[in-house]
Amino acid sequence: MKGLKTVYICSECEYVSPKWLGKCPKCSAWNSFVEDVEQVAPAQSSTPKRTSVIHAGESVATEFCELEAPTYIRSATGLSELDRVLGGGLVTGSAVLISGEPGIGKSTLLLQICDTLGKERRVLYVSGEESSGQLKLRAERLKVSGKNLYILTETNIENILNEAKRVKPDVIIADSVQTMYSDVISSSPGSVSNVKEVALAFIGKAKTEGISVILVGHVNKEGGIAGPKVLEHMVDAVLNFEGDKRQSYRIIRAQKNRFGSTNEIGVFEMTDTGLRQVVNPSEMLLSDRPSDTSGNCAVCTIEGSRPIVAEIQALVTQTAFPAPRRTSNGIDYNRTCLILAVLEKRLGLKFSGSDVYLNVIGGLEIDEPASDLGIAMALISSLTDKKVPDALIAIGEVGLAGEIRGVSHIEQRVREAARLGFTDALLPTHNAQSCPMIDGITIHPVKNIYDILKFLKGERKD
Ligand SMILES: Nc1ncnc2c1ncn2[C@@H]1O[C@H](COP(=O)(O)OP(=O)(O)O)[C@@H](O)[C@H]1O
Ligand SMILES: [Mg+2]
Ligand SMILES: [Zn+2]
Repeated sequence: MKGLKTVYICSECEYVSPKWLGKCPKCSAWNSFVEDVEQVAPAQSSTPKRTSVIHAGESVATEFCELEAPTYIRSATGLSELDRVLGGGLVTGSAVLISGEPGIGKSTLLLQICDTLGKERRVLYVSGEESSGQLKLRAERLKVSGKNLYILTETNIENILNEAKRVKPDVIIADSVQTMYSDVISSSPGSVSNVKEVALAFIGKAKTEGISVILVGHVNKEGGIAGPKVLEHMVDAVLNFEGDKRQSYRIIRAQKNRFGSTNEIGVFEMTDTGLRQVVNPSEMLLSDRPSDTSGNCAVCTIEGSRPIVAEIQALVTQTAFPAPRRTSNGIDYNRTCLILAVLEKRLGLKFSGSDVYLNVIGGLEIDEPASDLGIAMALISSLTDKKVPDALIAIGEVGLAGEIRGVSHIEQRVREAARLGFTDALLPTHNAQSCPMIDGITIHPVKNIYDILKFLKGERKD
């Protein structure tokens, strides 16, 4: 077409290149370039003029002391796990992006919350992916009554906004932004410019009319579709939907939140009647825990304001490869290597001839150093075939000299372990001194990595 030229845009940082590149020169992302078209001619006058999405037309500075702190109006979604991640419910006039791989459960979650939202608000659910018949079937399966819920299957943003004028919703759900397009953009739906234009139109609606907008964005590993990355700085909150599709557990994590903490996670289980919230994640994570085997150790990590007990599983086997394998699931790879190095150097344990596999049961991602001690215990246990007692939990950070360092929130962690029936806790000396007595649990202070060996019990007999 005349006046149009094909360009390639990095879906991570929006760097524009005239040809496709494997690696982005700006942000170093791999395979992040997607095809797009750019207008060469000056922008058409038909392009609607955009007002600021923060505050329309108020270009006068105000003295700080005269500013009033806004009070956010929040609506409960009916899922307290989601409300907590949002910072206490869906904020009126906010734009939230929910991203995740296809099939993870985004549409399911959003249709489920329509029931509670519909009690007080009008909800417009715009679907560009499913027909209204499909949505009806799903709503029946999820037992969503659909009061105050309006379904629109449409992908043209101008038509969607026109319909929104008529329906006058309090909440708009756009599923997904990648399927929608604007008349003013000449590239195909899902391209960076279309995704941005569609999102801007929705966000503008949210800010000027006080409507809560929830945008759904698919991410895929190949970066074939313009990822929700380009939207992250435009919205108020970004929630990531994580989990292994083969397993039933799902975790929602706030990656950005202008109205709350980003530390909180929400835990769900996918069932045939939809997502069920898991209020006690520790119990879920420990439910299919193996007992009386070597290579396992329980740890306690803090996610936001909640302690979560999880089980680390290690498998150390003789390698058949020239370079031994190191695989870790749910634990940072570099952290794994560091702990292995400390164990080799300080305890003289030999992992260099072995493959090492580490896993967190239940699919949780652990990124807190407080789990180091448990990881070390699991590794030693698997290497030596000595068991860690089932009722023992290990909490502490491992330093390069093999010292066990104190961690935060110790009392909360030990209480959670005690609640779940653990009877022994290995704690850094410093924490052991400050931790109060907790019924049912014996605290064992450990100063360095040598101290932990005596807590492993006997050889395996089988
Ligand atoms: N009839 C069904 N019974 C049970 N689970 C279903 C059924 N249909 C879909 N699911 C579950 O819902 C998931 C799809 O969720 P969905 O909300 O459509 O994902 P997304 O919108 O993120 O692409 C499937 O992976 C499956 O686990
Ligand atoms: Mg969907
Ligand atoms: Zn880039």
